[in-house]
Amino acid sequence: MKLILLGAPGAGKGTVAKQLTKIDGSVQISTGDILRGAVRAGTDLGKEADGYMTRGDLVPDSLIMGIMEERLQEDDCKSGFLLDGFPRTIPQAEELTVLLEKLGIKLDMAVNIDVPRDVIFDRLCTRRTCENPDCQEIYNIKSMPPKKEGICDKCGSPIVQRADETEEAIGHRLDTYNEKTAPVAGFYEKAGLLKTITGTSSDIVVAGVKKELGI
Ligand code: AP5
Ligand code: MG
Repeated sequence: MKLILLGAPGAGKGTVAKQLTKIDGSVQISTGDILRGAVRAGTDLGKEADGYMTRGDLVPDSLIMGIMEERLQEDDCKSGFLLDGFPRTIPQAEELTVLLEKLGIKLDMAVNIDVPRDVIFDRLCTRRTCENPDCQEIYNIKSMPPKKEGICDKCGSPIVQRADETEEAIGHRLDTYNEKTAPVAGFYEKAGLLKTITGTSSDIVVAGVKKELGI
């Protein structure tokens, strides 16, 4: 499948993407995970992105487009991909349209995961993420805790809170989402590709995607 996953911070894009990869081997491409990996590795990209991310601001479009142009041409994308956290602005959506045309790739759908704001705020304060850059499994100390406290079930690494999970940064990320990212859903609606799924259960979102794709 070739999908875009849209939705506010904490809507469950990463959680749903990980479930969908198990269906047909499509790869999850999370720009947030790529950027956090770069920050940890101390690369030039990471140094540039770090401040924006910690504040809860978007990093500049130019940085993201360079990453995605390369990433979408890697071999593992041939069997399908789930874009998680990208595109995030109208200019990114416009540039992606041009890029996909150039690469001869056709999207199946843009899925907008719609979850109430009070649920989202609560989820982000209680999320934990595996710190191993090759794993990055997502947990929630209330709703999806690991079997052993503080330890990833999959790889045994410590699970941690992200740098942008302070109350201040979460509030700012939600405002940035409303201003810059929510309009991206309208962009895909006009293109006839949008499917909005309302629900706090990731199983409902996964079932909705499967139904739409007829799989
Ligand atoms: P990014 O990493 O993309 O963060 P985000 O959009 O803020 O989204 P999150 O990862 O916080 O939430 P999610 O929807 O993946 O939810 P999750 O599945 O974890 O981006 C981070 C930063 O990078 C940005 O602020 C920006 O600076 C930069 N960036 C990235 N892409 C960019 C771009 N394209 N352009 C510019 N800048 C960019 O779930 C959340 C929690 O809820 C978890 O604890 C989970 O266990 C729990 N949960 C999920 N589903 C359920 C459920 N059904 N029931 C109960 N709990 C659930
Ligand atoms: Mg995520």
